[in-house]
Amino acid sequence: MKDEATLVIIKPDGLKKSLTGNILTRLSETKLRIVGAKVVKVAEELARKHYHHLQEKPFFSELLKYITGEPYGENRVLALVYAGENAIEKVRQIAGTTNPEEADPVSVRGAYGRILTNGLYENVIHASSSSEEAEREIELWFRPDEIV
Ligand code: CDP
Ligand code: MG
Repeated sequence: MKDEATLVIIKPDGLKKSLTGNILTRLSETKLRIVGAKVVKVAEELARKHYHHLQEKPFFSELLKYITGEPYGENRVLALVYAGENAIEKVRQIAGTTNPEEADPVSVRGAYGRILTNGLYENVIHASSSSEEAEREIELWFRPDEIV
């Protein structure tokens, strides 16, 4: 039994497509606790730090535009922290695999994601993928007093 916390971000396409309620409902199936939630206007610096492990990838500049919302006229995301038993795995399960074409069709990414003509995976939601990543990301996105 692992009591852990994980970062979830509803990306700009998720907000633009009005999927917030739907995604929160799906995540509530996990019975995890929401311990942090806020709307964030994503600055380029935050985007770079969040995706620093991908900076050498050919799609990195498109990825920065995506998460900062540039192509959407929607430069906000909803950031949440979910906590509880096996939180990381439970949320990744509902999010689905990275490539929306390969994701389980009933997962959030499988149901609502798409691959853009430039090749970028526009996949609606971010979810931490390991405990090290979750710790780093929660610290990056939330101040300690914002976690309740
Ligand atoms: O988000 P996740 O942890 O599943 O995947 P990642 O490898 O950490 O990549 C972060 C994000 O970059 C993905 O969610 C996609 O939006 C994007 N990406 C992409 O467009 N093309 C790839 N081949 C890999 C990732
Ligand atoms: Mg990742």
